[in-house]
Amino acid sequence: MGVMRIGHASLKVMDMQAAVKHYTEVLGMKVTMEDKSGNVYLKCWDEWDRYSVILTPSDQAGMNHVAYKVEKESDLDALKARIEAYGVKVTELPEGTLPATGRMLQFKLPSSHEMRLYATKEYVGTEVGTTNPDPWPDNLTGAGAHWLDHALLMCELNPETGVNKVAENTDFLIKTMDFYLVEQVMVGPGGVIQAATWLTRTNTPHDIAFVGGPKAGIHHISFFLDSWHDVLKAADVMSKKKVKIDVAPTRHGITRGETIYFFDPSGNRNETFAGLGYLAQPDRPVTTWTEDKLWTGIFYHTGDAVPSFTDVYTLFFQACDLPVGLALREADCCEKSGTTEINAASNGDSSDCRYRQLNSISRRCLLIRGR
Ligand SMILES: [Fe+2]
Repeated sequence: MGVMRIGHASLKVMDMQAAVKHYTEVLGMKVTMEDKSGNVYLKCWDEWDRYSVILTPSDQAGMNHVAYKVEKESDLDALKARIEAYGVKVTELPEGTLPATGRMLQFKLPSSHEMRLYATKEYVGTEVGTTNPDPWPDNLTGAGAHWLDHALLMCELNPETGVNKVAENTDFLIKTMDFYLVEQVMVGPGGVIQAATWLTRTNTPHDIAFVGGPKAGIHHISFFLDSWHDVLKAADVMSKKKVKIDVAPTRHGITRGETIYFFDPSGNRNETFAGLGYLAQPDRPVTTWTEDKLWTGIFYHTGDAVPSFTDVYTLFFQACDLPVGLALREADCCEKSGTTEINAASNGDSSDCRYRQLNSISRRCLLIRGR
């Protein structure tokens, strides 16, 4: 079968205690493992493998890599050959590189994001089990997310220079891993520029998505909920827990998904996603959204532009050589850029943003939003 589904996302977090509290108390995940490097591993209640999220201590937010699980070990060999034949270098990481996980293929997408493939991860099962199971366990907390559902990656798109990493990633996944295209946004004169794509290997509307932006980054990782009511309840949980909500419960036109966007304490965007409005099929005609209906596709009810959707994501700016504690606007930071990568999450409106100097030695800073 090859790729089955998203397996895990490895995220950078700046305050591990706050991050664990967020992913357990808001999303409802359980910590299943910690390692001596301080990485924390979590799973959702409806997942049977050991973990689906890795939180790694860092002085910046962002994503280390996203991993997809393949069905068999032999699939890794076949996929390695296909990816290398496409012209992409593959590194094989031995079993145990990540705990409880078999060997992995490691490579860069054309957009520069790190992707991994693996076939083996420790099976731990679910609390409801596999024999006459109840529909949910008794001890759910927070939103009670079922599983990590998909990732949306921001990819460099600059029609003026001909750079389109959305299209390159899409071609790469289709030709090397047999993903198929479900929905797309086409923009520009004649609608010939593929500005966003949603691809799947299963019957869900997307297992991965790419959206064009000025620079590569991680837009969000998404967790599955069962129903619109669960989405509403998740928003209640977020409000109670003082989580920064980016977009309150609404529906996407694209995928027909019911959604909330919100941020973890480090500024990584999360989504809770429900409403499988249709089953994707390989022979289902591709849905195309045109530039004039772009925002209807993103937020179906209003069709209004929400600048944070395209402007706010964890990306890599150049470092700012800033005094500790100095509050600056995004423009100031960019103007003072140096050589070290930093990570920033911006809301596109510098008026309510602030730069926080996180580490006076590395001089890295993060643009964050206050609630
Ligand atoms: Fe999503």
